[in-house]
Amino acid sequence: MQDKKQILKDKLTQASLGGGQARIDSQHKKNKLTARERIHLLLDEGSFEETGALVVHRTTDFGMEDQVFYGDGVVTGYGRVANRLVYVYSQDFTVFGGSLSETHAEKICRLMDMAMKNGAPIIGLNDSGGARIQEGVRSLGGYADIFYRNVRASGVVPQISAIMGPCAGGAVYSPAITDFILMVENSSYMFVTGPNVVKTVTNEEVSSEDLGGASAHSVKSGVTHFTAVNDYECIAQIRKLLSYIPQNCEDRPPALPYTFGTEIREDLEQIIPDNPNQPYDMYAIIDGIIDDDSFFEVHKNYADNIIVGFARLAGKSIGIVANQPMSLAGVLDIEASKKAARFIRFCDCFHIPLLVLEDVPGFLPGTDQEWKGIITNGAKLLYAFSEATVPRITVITRKAYGGAYDVMNSKHIGADFNFAWPSAEIAVMGAKGASEIIFKKEISEADDPAAKLLEKEKEYADLFANPYQAAGRGFVDEVIEPRMTRRKLIRAFESLANKTEHLPKKKHGNIPL
Ligand code: COA
Repeated sequence: MQDKKQILKDKLTQASLGGGQARIDSQHKKNKLTARERIHLLLDEGSFEETGALVVHRTTDFGMEDQVFYGDGVVTGYGRVANRLVYVYSQDFTVFGGSLSETHAEKICRLMDMAMKNGAPIIGLNDSGGARIQEGVRSLGGYADIFYRNVRASGVVPQISAIMGPCAGGAVYSPAITDFILMVENSSYMFVTGPNVVKTVTNEEVSSEDLGGASAHSVKSGVTHFTAVNDYECIAQIRKLLSYIPQNCEDRPPALPYTFGTEIREDLEQIIPDNPNQPYDMYAIIDGIIDDDSFFEVHKNYADNIIVGFARLAGKSIGIVANQPMSLAGVLDIEASKKAARFIRFCDCFHIPLLVLEDVPGFLPGTDQEWKGIITNGAKLLYAFSEATVPRITVITRKAYGGAYDVMNSKHIGADFNFAWPSAEIAVMGAKGASEIIFKKEISEADDPAAKLLEKEKEYADLFANPYQAAGRGFVDEVIEPRMTRRKLIRAFESLANKTEHLPKKKHGNIPL
């Protein structure tokens, strides 16, 4: 028996070394942790249970029968984050560059199946040279098996992908389907085709980092939701993200214990400037409403004219969607619409109530936006709000103009409550633009057209640049003092805690894509 136990011990020791100490050292030299180190950092201490540690590939071509490593380039298993079950796979770059073989894919698929059956999040730590070149189509089949499961799991359990090394070619499409992507700066990249192919096809010279590094994907493409300076920060972000979200679509988000105080926040009174054209920082309003230091921003560096992220209100998770007047006056454009729509749909999948903070002058005009499809893309946002059945509340802090008023979670499209601050202006458009159109003749025929415009502008503003027309119709439930906002929201969300609403029976909707 002792011998047999020793055999097991030796095999497990070998498995734990992946591709061997030299390759582990080389991984460390690149400022990267190994697959196992990452898992141990992610999970609560001592909670990891590995599955498939002794799996090996079945390839015999190209002398592969002589190159066999236990685990076959991916460490899989389950464990706990803040004492909640998660399933995790971590690609091991020290074994064939973490490349995906048929058996490597089978391990990931088994893990995904388990996560689905047991209703727990799937976390993928990606660090891979892509399809195992020696295996050809067998490895491509493995990718497709994973993609299929990513889609089946979408909306059932949260799926999180950290990119902690290369992720190229078909490999990118698994993370792309998952709910959140995190990338580590300077050691990870994602692209469909690398710099060499780009050079051949388009004659562009570009580095891997510029083409598909963390910065490119957080600022330019919006492919990644988060970036981290190193592996440690990336893993910490995953743990934080999990703290806001439930285990699965039947579960509710975790809540922190909370003791009610007065909940009045005087600082909120000072934020909106007297001049309606002067920007202010929406982050100050977010901070003024939520539990202290609880904002966890998603897509921070992308489309910053809209802010999205998780927060806690009286200990409970909420998703925030807020126009940012500091960037493009908070206008809605294609990128902002897509960013917010995706976030809203995530929150709706997983029972996270939505708070919308609205100060929006409208949709961005121009040929660029029209030709790139602001119609279809703006519709995504409208669609996402309209189909969401989670509790939904809007606070209009200042402008709510035109079609953007409808789109930004108005009561007409199913919001449960709309509140407005006294500074709200809910109208078809700003007073100047409106006056120039409807009083065009009167202004042009006036002795002093400029003075006439000002007079008409004031007339229009007095009538419409306020929340009272909307309140009179019941489109706004209440006009509230800014300092009372937090208290009002805590009570309103509390009243919606058992909200149940079902969409009409259908196979699935057809969101404009
Ligand atoms: N299939 C099989 N083995 C692979 C592999 C793949 N797709 N990608 C990398 N490897 C192996 C390498 O042969 C090397 O093996 P070794 O440790 O025995 O020497 C090891 O992984 C590390 O690769 P290396 O090229 O030395 O690392 P690097 O950091 O310099 O470069 C990549 C990493 C990913 C940029 C580079 O390996 C690469 O371009 N791989 C191929 C990518 C690809 O075209 N994939 C298929 C299409 S999706």
